[in-house]
Amino acid sequence: MRILGIESSCDETAAAVVADGREILSSVVASQIDIHRKYGGVVPELASREHLRQIVPVVREALAQAGMQLTDVDAIGVTQGPGLVGALLVGITYGKTLAQSLGKPLVPVNHLEGHVHAVFLEAHKAGRVPKLPAMCLIVSGGHTVLCEVKSENPAVQDASAKLLYRKLGQTRDDAAGEAYDKVAKLLGLGYPGGPILDRLAAASNGAPAPVKFGHTKMKGNALDFSFSGLKTAVLYHVRENAEYNEEIRHREEALARGERKFEHLLPLCSTKTLGLVREFQNTVVRDLVERTLSAAEQLSAESILVSGGVAANSQLRSTFEERAKSAGIEVFFPSRVLSTDNAAMIAAAAYSRFRAGILADVSLNADPSLALA
Ligand code: KG4
Ligand code: ZN
Repeated sequence: MRILGIESSCDETAAAVVADGREILSSVVASQIDIHRKYGGVVPELASREHLRQIVPVVREALAQAGMQLTDVDAIGVTQGPGLVGALLVGITYGKTLAQSLGKPLVPVNHLEGHVHAVFLEAHKAGRVPKLPAMCLIVSGGHTVLCEVKSENPAVQDASAKLLYRKLGQTRDDAAGEAYDKVAKLLGLGYPGGPILDRLAAASNGAPAPVKFGHTKMKGNALDFSFSGLKTAVLYHVRENAEYNEEIRHREEALARGERKFEHLLPLCSTKTLGLVREFQNTVVRDLVERTLSAAEQLSAESILVSGGVAANSQLRSTFEERAKSAGIEVFFPSRVLSTDNAAMIAAAAYSRFRAGILADVSLNADPSLALA
């Protein structure tokens, strides 16, 4: 069964064809990063307009790469939410129109469920199957959610079953990726912040931390997250230490000249800045890993799944690998391309939903705050 997946919830227009929920026949992603960069974040109105421009060529390209015609598609899976309403509507309207005109089933998909399926897609490529129940951390620019993933069907313990989700914790303010983006912005390191801060932290070479950020204690649900306090702590530290100003200005000038790569920015960072970046990342990683492991332990999860843009972070991956190993639990990540938004994960999620009989008709509408559980 070949499903065409369509994703347009944020700033990536994506289409993909996936066979039987696990074989990626094609996956095309048109990123809008260059359009939003000068605003330091996603501008919803520009995002919708760009999706409109990209949706038709991106779907065509996905079909061409899979060597297929539209009529060869067995079903269409489309992201219903959560996300930006205007952005979602572009994919949904196109998906509905295709489904109607081709007479094919339309499957509504929760974007977060897509991120969970990204992990199964990657595992399948490596011939591995994450054991269920699993503890899943979805960590991106828009979300930081911890949920338990189980199969509805005791006889089918893989991603072709209908998966059941139970939310155990989430961020009360900023998402982890958002904290990366905001900290990078205030340090004059450009947008998006995750990849550059990741590399600078790795290049910090034991630079001492100019300030220490403590563990974020949560009142109430101990599995919730909070990152806005950390971002504010970085901001105050930078404001209180005037010596950062000059290098920040130099980096902003470099960015304005289009010099935004790691190679351009590293020489413009003092040891103190590198130490600060490393301490920020240590704090985020420690928080994400500890809460996830503690949730996995509490629920006796069989494996840990980590997905979403921040799952590409090298320190997060190595720390999870290390800690999970000593805890005797297997951890699974998607590759970098499957970590960030894509449509292969939407097509894969659509397969399990289709098998469970979850279909939509022409009344399907975008749901900007669609919950996973
Ligand atoms: O999943 P995604 O592509 O889009 C959302 O649904 O948000 O995630 C994008 C987010 C951005 O905030 C970006 O800074 C972050 O993922 N990110 C990273 C890394 N690569 C991307 N954060 C930390 N380390 C990275 N290597
Ligand atoms: Zn996402």
